[in-house]
Amino acid sequence: MTIRFDNRVAIVTGAGNGLGRAHAMLLASRGAKVVVNDPGGAVDGKGGDHAAADKVVAEIKAAGGQAVASYDSVATWEGAQNIVKVAVDAFGTVDILVNNAGILRDKSFSKLDIADIELVIQVHLMGTIFCTKAVWPIMMEKKYGRIVVTTSGSGLTGNFGQSNYGAAKMGVVGLMNTLEHEGARSNIRINAISPMADTRMTGAIMDPNVQKYASPDHIAAPVAWLSSEDCNVSGEIVCAMAGSYTAVRLYQTETVRFDPANPATLDQFAEKAPALFDFEKSAQPYAGVMGMISHLPKAEPAA
Ligand code: NAI
Repeated sequence: MTIRFDNRVAIVTGAGNGLGRAHAMLLASRGAKVVVNDPGGAVDGKGGDHAAADKVVAEIKAAGGQAVASYDSVATWEGAQNIVKVAVDAFGTVDILVNNAGILRDKSFSKLDIADIELVIQVHLMGTIFCTKAVWPIMMEKKYGRIVVTTSGSGLTGNFGQSNYGAAKMGVVGLMNTLEHEGARSNIRINAISPMADTRMTGAIMDPNVQKYASPDHIAAPVAWLSSEDCNVSGEIVCAMAGSYTAVRLYQTETVRFDPANPATLDQFAEKAPALFDFEKSAQPYAGVMGMISHLPKAEPAA
């Protein structure tokens, strides 16, 4: 089986380095026309130059692929619209959006400036929302789309010093959970990748024994599969590192029931709390706001 992307147009944000570069190179090598988006700049988001995107475009072209550069930031609505305009002007449409762009401003929560919280949320969460919103009407109209959001273990399970980043990275999962439903009837599938790879963002803090196996190329294959026509899942989270992959879902414990007509007292609730947190008996929640609601007894018919 050879998965190809001929006649598909892909936008990869933050594709001038690390993971984005690997995603862009793989998609292009399988026939996709790729917008390599990257304003350049350091890991903390400071500075910028066109060289990052230009270099990856040159690499793709040298390998016989098709690509154009885009230098806008995902962190503004205008920027996101421009990124999509580059795709439409160059290639006529957008089929695939890989939301990958990211920065870090790590500090413990007590030391974190509000500006560093806002900027990280702006790039990761608002950037993903802006780019997805900008491609959404195109995908809805053509009734086809593949979107990948990039989450992180720092959001899924938390990591010291990354409260701003973790909040943003869990935010994109919330976005995905809703768009999974809103896009389903239009054949728009949206999934998340939770990567771990040796890039300039992580190289300095990575265990050398892990680092030697943690090429970004290990992450590109699941991202390309989630971006392909073959992708038959939506709303899933794939964790990827060094040739190992798992899928992650939210689970809920068995329902702890009280009389719906008589609210539990504080003491009654406290008594059942251990059962509430018994994850030995857990299952995936129903789609919707709260699975528990479907367990409630039916309302008595009005007399
Ligand atoms: P990287 O620093 O090598 O690449 C990130 C790219 O995003 C850079 O080229 C940067 O210029 C670009 N970028 C930054 N701000 C941007 C903006 N406003 N608009 C467009 N592009 C922008 O980092 P890496 O590791 O490749 O990260 C890629 C994604 O994967 C990020 O979202 C990151 O948070 C996520 N991630 C990475 C992990 C890892 O182990 N490397 C772990 C978990 C998540």
